[in-house]
Amino acid sequence: MDRIKIAFYDAKDYDRNSFIASNGNDEFDIRYLETRLTADTYKLAEGCDAVCVFVNDEIDRFVIDRLCEMGIKLVALRCAGYNNVDVEYAYGKIHVVRVPAYSPYAVAEHAIALLLTSIRRIHKAYIRTRDFNFSLEGMTGFDLHGKTVGVVGTGKIGRIFIDICRGFGMNVIAYDKFPAADSGIEYVSLDELWQRSDIISFHCPLTDENRHMVNADSISRMKKGVVLINTSRGALIDSEALLNAIKDRKVGAACLDVYEEESNVFFHDYSNHIVNDDILARLISMPNVIVTSHQAFLTEEALSNIADTTLSNVREFFSSDACSNEVCYKCPNLPTCRQDHVKKCF
Ligand code: NAI
Repeated sequence: MDRIKIAFYDAKDYDRNSFIASNGNDEFDIRYLETRLTADTYKLAEGCDAVCVFVNDEIDRFVIDRLCEMGIKLVALRCAGYNNVDVEYAYGKIHVVRVPAYSPYAVAEHAIALLLTSIRRIHKAYIRTRDFNFSLEGMTGFDLHGKTVGVVGTGKIGRIFIDICRGFGMNVIAYDKFPAADSGIEYVSLDELWQRSDIISFHCPLTDENRHMVNADSISRMKKGVVLINTSRGALIDSEALLNAIKDRKVGAACLDVYEEESNVFFHDYSNHIVNDDILARLISMPNVIVTSHQAFLTEEALSNIADTTLSNVREFFSSDACSNEVCYKCPNLPTCRQDHVKKCF
């Protein structure tokens, strides 16, 4: 049998290195492409059996139709979230697989790194001491011990984040659409979480239902000085409302690994360009906002797990009836489908 051909979009050096290491004996024929998969670039996958995509590729109706016309059978996401794929439209046309977990520790630990950097002003201290400025003016932080952290989404990443926060002696409250039974987690309503939390961290998927869950109204119910951490998906937060709340001194700090318009800028070097996104530029100019460019996942362990699972997803799909990590829009509505999930969904 011919080697399976994979068009690998949005490839960076770190992706290439981990996939070359996982693709022992060149089992798969991988075409590494620097560009994202969009309506303008789908043709680069001509002749391939599968496309491998990441968080900012755009797998909408148009792209799905074109991929199907080219005979492509599989969209292999090398990430956990799948909000950039129209999975409902894909059903019955093209299969979609993902990497459900690669290192929840990587993301939870990055959320904590952002929090500590922000509240202890490490980002400021780093710049000051490099300039031999040893003043402590404006560097006062606060203890995490005894503070209340509200965690939205208590899945794999949220639970690890909770464990770390407990290690700091913080009080943890949480909201989840599907609370875990017997978890020992204090679940509260979203409204109570907004009102009680000193720090709020997001670890839930982005859906139509929770898009802009942080908006002018929800922010108005939060404590003055609240610290927001988003390592989940940018569009959970209405960026303009966040910017206004920072200007009003209502939000004390924001730690953002994701941003709702990130696909236009993240993962690229724009240091010699004029950035057109005024909201992003203004947010970055704030002393109490830290932005990292969707790097929470980026550890050696995670990259290796991503490559291994992605290639094993492709191997399983093309060599058997099974498709263990399939994403199917019907599955979340049919819990038994998830439980017995071995075979392909259609
Ligand atoms: P998971 O599937 O283990 O947990 C998600 C949790 O969110 C579940 O408990 C689920 O019940 C809950 N949930 C679903 N809808 C909700 C809603 N509307 N409101 C509140 N809770 C809801 O997922 P995991 O692995 O913990 O990942 C969480 C999110 O982190 C992913 O969806 C992804 O968006 C993001 N992520 C970000 C990365 C980064 O590099 N910044 C890397 C990996 C994931």
